[in-house]
Amino acid sequence: MTQTNTVLIVSDRPQLAALLARAVENVVACRCIEPGEPLPAALPAVAVVDVSRNAALARAWVARLHASCIATLQLTNQADAIGRAVSATRTLRADAPRTMVLATLFGLVDSRRTGERPVPGAATAARAENLARVADAMVTRVFEAAGAGRVLTPAEADAGTEVILEAISECGIRTWLEAVERHDQQLYQHSLSVAGYAAAFGTGLGLPRADQMRLARAALLHDLGKAKIPLEILNKPGRLTPAEMAVMQTHPAIGADLLRDQEGFDAQTLQVVRHHHEMLDGSGYPDGLAGAAIPDLVRLVTICDIHSALTERRPYRDRLPHGQAHALMLDMVPRLDADLLRAFERVVLQAIPDAAVA
Ligand SMILES: [Fe+2]
Ligand SMILES: [Fe+2]
Repeated sequence: MTQTNTVLIVSDRPQLAALLARAVENVVACRCIEPGEPLPAALPAVAVVDVSRNAALARAWVARLHASCIATLQLTNQADAIGRAVSATRTLRADAPRTMVLATLFGLVDSRRTGERPVPGAATAARAENLARVADAMVTRVFEAAGAGRVLTPAEADAGTEVILEAISECGIRTWLEAVERHDQQLYQHSLSVAGYAAAFGTGLGLPRADQMRLARAALLHDLGKAKIPLEILNKPGRLTPAEMAVMQTHPAIGADLLRDQEGFDAQTLQVVRHHHEMLDGSGYPDGLAGAAIPDLVRLVTICDIHSALTERRPYRDRLPHGQAHALMLDMVPRLDADLLRAFERVVLQAIPDAAVA
């Protein structure tokens, strides 16, 4: 991504944003977008976040801009929480006089011009680590909220997904996996890994951007239902008993129900969450779907999910090398899609050193 000498205003108050933009444009190019829109590919030098109707979305924007090393001014009445979370962000009250907003904003523009800024990273481990930390914070909020009965909005999910797609396109799957491996919550790490694999898979297959987003977002949310599984089962340091396994196997249906209750998630995302443990021969759960009844998007996420699980460390077993994990999955054909497994090897595993299958 390139950085341009422009100001980006992300605002849910279009009239105020237009007034601000008119004043800013006297000095530097300016663009306004709504909070539901993506971060433009040509990154701005400075951004204003004025999102007061949705605190979680505001936090997501600030975190995303921070991860991209963009100097940010946030207009908010919740400055305490946000200012603490991201120290590089300047905050003003949402009702601050426009002259004060402009003075602060131009100060940021000047500081970028004179070089007091971190240069946006190339494909580095530090950059991946930074993006992974942002995505990890989002995933943590997603699961904690789901555990408490509140599900994130599609826009919040998209913010997290964009960070992951950005990380994969800039840093690659290998660096991403190394970065997320350092995070200690196993479920969150798993969700970030599966989403990373899905992003790399979708990109490598050349899917249109909207499909890449859908795939990575569904992967990020696939185990959402685990937020409702008792911790003594979820974190058990050993194999589950049949009774515990039966509880664990309720997570796909729970996750899909949670998302259905929250309007705005598309049917394909719900299908992935409900059916990611189905097998092509009908031996999976919860519905025993078989063959053509399992959509492609689900099959893609299932492959990412199993590969990720096999190559993660568990309390009762070591992680498998990528090549061995893939060989094991090839042995699972025809329960898994052979063509997609071969494509996964070609477009994802080639980028991971130990992935060569004998
Ligand atoms: Fe699962
Ligand atoms: Fe999973």
